[in-house]
Amino acid sequence: MELLANRDPEEARKILDPVLERMMEAVHRYEGTVNQVMGDGIMALFGAPLAHEDHSVRACYAALRMQEQVSRYSSEMQDNVGIAIKIRVGLNSGEVVVRSIGNDLHMDYTAVGQTTHLAARMEQLANPGSILMAAATFDLSRGHVAAVRHGPTTVKGLSEPVDVYQLTAIEPTHTRFQASATRGLTRFVGRSTELAQMFAALERAKNGHGELVALVGEPGVGKSRLVWEFTHSQHARAFRVLETGSVSYGRASAWRPVIDLLKAYFQIREDEDAHTVRERIGATTRQPDRQLEAFLSPLLYLLDVPFDDAAWDKLEPSERRARILNACKHLLLREARVQPLLLVFEDLHWIDHETQVLLDTLVDSLLNARMLLLVNYRPEYQHAWGGKGSYTQIRVDPLDPNSAEKLLDALLGDNPALKSIRRLLLQRTGGNSFFLEESVRTLIETGVLHGAPGDYRVARPTDEIAVPATVQTMLAARIDRLAVSDKQLLQTASVIGKDVPFALLSEIAGMPADALRTALTDLQVADFIYEATAYPVLEYTFKHALTHEVAYRSLLQDQRRTLHARIVQAVERMYADRLSEQIERLAHHALRGEMWEKAVDYLHQAGSSAFSRSANREAAMHLEHAVSALSHLPQNQNNLAQAVDLRATLWSCLLPLGDQVRGLELARQAQLLATTLGDDRRTAWISCLMSGSLSNLGDVDEGLARGKDAAGLAESLEDPALAVTARFHIGIAYRFHGGYRKAFEFFQPDPKLAPEELMGPHRSEIRGDTRYRASAAHYYLYSLNNCSHCLTELG
Ligand SMILES: Nc1ncnc2c1ncn2[C@@H]1O[C@H](COP(=O)(O)OP(=O)(O)OP(=O)(O)O)[C@@H](O)[C@H]1O
Ligand SMILES: [Mg+2]
Repeated sequence: MELLANRDPEEARKILDPVLERMMEAVHRYEGTVNQVMGDGIMALFGAPLAHEDHSVRACYAALRMQEQVSRYSSEMQDNVGIAIKIRVGLNSGEVVVRSIGNDLHMDYTAVGQTTHLAARMEQLANPGSILMAAATFDLSRGHVAAVRHGPTTVKGLSEPVDVYQLTAIEPTHTRFQASATRGLTRFVGRSTELAQMFAALERAKNGHGELVALVGEPGVGKSRLVWEFTHSQHARAFRVLETGSVSYGRASAWRPVIDLLKAYFQIREDEDAHTVRERIGATTRQPDRQLEAFLSPLLYLLDVPFDDAAWDKLEPSERRARILNACKHLLLREARVQPLLLVFEDLHWIDHETQVLLDTLVDSLLNARMLLLVNYRPEYQHAWGGKGSYTQIRVDPLDPNSAEKLLDALLGDNPALKSIRRLLLQRTGGNSFFLEESVRTLIETGVLHGAPGDYRVARPTDEIAVPATVQTMLAARIDRLAVSDKQLLQTASVIGKDVPFALLSEIAGMPADALRTALTDLQVADFIYEATAYPVLEYTFKHALTHEVAYRSLLQDQRRTLHARIVQAVERMYADRLSEQIERLAHHALRGEMWEKAVDYLHQAGSSAFSRSANREAAMHLEHAVSALSHLPQNQNNLAQAVDLRATLWSCLLPLGDQVRGLELARQAQLLATTLGDDRRTAWISCLMSGSLSNLGDVDEGLARGKDAAGLAESLEDPALAVTARFHIGIAYRFHGGYRKAFEFFQPDPKLAPEELMGPHRSEIRGDTRYRASAAHYYLYSLNNCSHCLTELG
């Protein structure tokens, strides 16, 4: 708002304050947090500190409302004092770290990082009076808002251009399902049992025995889709269908779903004026088969249409409320007499109090009405209908494996090469349709899959799938809505892993046994975890990998680290007499708990044990972690020696995996370390490995040179095992050169050396490490093998 720069500060404040007030009102209306008020602007957060699954949609709505309110104020100012005011709004979505500053009475949040930086840049790039958003916000609010793409734009402070959109309007969609339906629905699969139950209830309702059918299931399983298939089916033809639903930011706005329902009933469009609306409602209520004139005022009042009724104006609020309820109820019941009525109320978990009361009243009148009341909600919603005769609950579970496969067929096609990705998708999503769709979308957007809907192929193999942003926000919001102690327990459990042994959880949760059991029951009821095994040990498991990951990520790094460390201590205590069974678990937690010394030790053990089982990939992973954990420890003799040895073991794991490049890199590092250590024997061993890598990578001359270095050292150290190994590598270098005669010479056993010497007690001074020695025995055998190979070549 540059125009204020030259004004007297007091006068500027007078103009500015009402602008800021309007901006803040818009933020609060959609439950955002104003976390900073700068001189002439504000910064607001949606979805933090409390997560909301539709945070970006809320931000868009708030931005549009801000522009609308400020432009209204600006016209007033234009008329009164002759100044026009325009604001710029910028939006971005992503992770922020939110810190609370101050005490409980006064909370101030600061959010820092790349995400806020880009939002600020969007604001600076916007033309006065407009709203710009980054692609992340657009992606998350797609289908809910209208926007114009500006295309890739260079932004100060970022190396790559970013995609920028100008937000222009709200789309008339309320729910995520409606928004995704505008993009096209995936072919419908499964659900025949659920639909059959619903059709049976519909039939009964048609015959005058109304019912309340509730579809209950976790977010994204397919409740809305089931409603859609149902209302669009042949069976529902005879019914008048009226649909409405609660929205996540609507709990504070009483009656909202009822108002939407009435608008649908009276077919009121947004652009119609009060007169037209009043006439239409009046005409309907006067119809002979309805006779609802007495209810006209309450209906008009609820719809915010001006009318003249002196008696109404005199009523107490409680009396008005009673009459509104009565009017709505009778309107619907009378309509059901004219033709059967299918009333849909979606997303009751966000219901406001007044709408709830209306539903409760309707339920009591259903038994003799030609009305089916179809509702859906997530498991956390509580109601008192359980004992009512007219109440039927249908649990909507994730898709069964067969249907999930069909959904994947529809999304991806049946290319056999997709088998492993499909397995991964099913594992991570547990058959939740929304998670499946979104994960597939992520794979396409990140270039893992290429092709067209129903016909994809793998462009880049992967064994992990990132949590889609849409799923992340949904799950984070669910977790945030849990009671504080339940949420903490879920987060603590997530640090243990996807599978959570009860005994371990109770060791680290720091909760009394009773409280722990209650919280676990809550988490089961809310569908976050379930009991996987009860015997021999009680173990819980996260419903899907995605929930686990989001719960884990909702912890700050410090908290995670502390919990991982606590798990290591607990496991060491609980399994003191059989730690070796727990090595992998200990290695994992010690690493993440940043207990570096323990981490190196456990990882090395885990790596060696995997290597001995020929689980080379797993071994390599442990050992890579060990190498990086070790880098956090001081460079003393002991650690340097271990740094060399770890790399040598890792090198051996990589050899069968064919990763020579990483092998050579490790060998080079090890060589430097061994030199720093001043340890000739290790230097010699590493020269052998280096020689192997170089020859394998085609640099045979260098390979030969390193082999000779090793042989020289072996001789001066008088170490037979080392000598055999060095000779083998020299032989290999010659062989790769085509010098079979020379090669044969080196592969031939040294006449001075008895093979038993390699296997027996070793003269090497590398303490406690039998690996080099054992490998020397292998090299002895490889050499013999190679001898015969050379002889064949030489004829
Ligand atoms: N049986 C099915 N066949 C094909 N697609 C499905 C099926 N069930 C759900 N889907 C798709 O999965 C997505 C999520 O489903 P839906 O929106 O119905 O979930 P929901 O249970 O209503 O979730 P929420 O609690 O968040 O409202 C939608 O895009 C929907 O079209
Ligand atoms: Mg839904």
